[in-house]
Amino acid sequence: MLNARCALVTGATQGIGLAVAERLAAAGADVVLHGIEPRSQGDAVAARLAAAHGVRCAYVAADLLDADAAAGLVQRAEAALRPIDILVNNAGIQHTSPIEAFPTDRWHAIVAVNLSAAFFTMRAAVPGMRARRWGRIVNIASVHGLVASVNKAAYLAAKHGLVGLSKGVALETATDGITVNCICPGWTDTPIIVPQIEARAARFGGDRDAAVRDLLREKQPNLTLLPPGRIGDVAVFLCGEAAAGITGVALPVDGGWTAQ
Ligand SMILES: NC(=O)c1ccc[n+]([C@@H]2O[C@H](COP(=O)([O-])OP(=O)(O)OC[C@H]3O[C@@H](n4cnc5c(N)ncnc54)[C@H](O)[C@@H]3O)[C@@H](O)[C@H]2O)c1
Repeated sequence: MLNARCALVTGATQGIGLAVAERLAAAGADVVLHGIEPRSQGDAVAARLAAAHGVRCAYVAADLLDADAAAGLVQRAEAALRPIDILVNNAGIQHTSPIEAFPTDRWHAIVAVNLSAAFFTMRAAVPGMRARRWGRIVNIASVHGLVASVNKAAYLAAKHGLVGLSKGVALETATDGITVNCICPGWTDTPIIVPQIEARAARFGGDRDAAVRDLLREKQPNLTLLPPGRIGDVAVFLCGEAAAGITGVALPVDGGWTAQ
């Protein structure tokens, strides 16, 4: 289905990013995986995906806290494999704290990785997509790009910003064969939520399962942590021809969270 395409997925060595990369490779796309791990580690993940799916994969390391590294990522990915048709901005970090105690460095880091990096990669990727008259940009936002929860000031600002940024780029590219959409996951079973589960578990005598049940009861009506593959499947759908008419949307994949 995506045989002629080449994708760049940020934060692709674990969690949702890895699931997206795996699903894109399974759909036939070549994939450049981005991460922060050393070259040998990233190359091993890329080699595993390439062998499993019979596609070409490469690995590029870059710390997206560094604006220059973010700005140069697409060019490096294209040098590693070939021009990027599909860009998935997935890398993200979290920090929870009441606003009055929110550390300045966490604010800047979350905005840099979750929002500014997507600006830099889209700015670099759009001209090539426009020239080839085909492109798919999928930005992994969050339910927190649509609604708020307490103690997530920077994450909320960055994810709401990412939804707005994506809508704007969708309008700018609407006649160019390019679509730009956000996926807005609810609670998904990946390492990013572990600190929040651990903090909640402290209230339940360290019982992790009880903590997860409590978190889900509070917000996510399907009462189930989403497997990362669910997000990967939706990303593949948004990259396919069936979704060619969908641009500028922020699609919740949230077990009913934002229906409330
Ligand atoms: N898991 C959830 O419940 C959930 C819900 C909504 C949205 N999301 C979003 O999904 C995306 C993926 O997160 P995940 O759940 O897979 O968690 P994760 O922690 O497993 O993955 C985050 C990825 O971001 C990368 N990353 C972190 N700091 C980086 C940096 N400085 N430079 C480059 N890359 C960096 C990590 O290497 C990792 O691959 C994030 O944008 C997150 O906000 C997750």
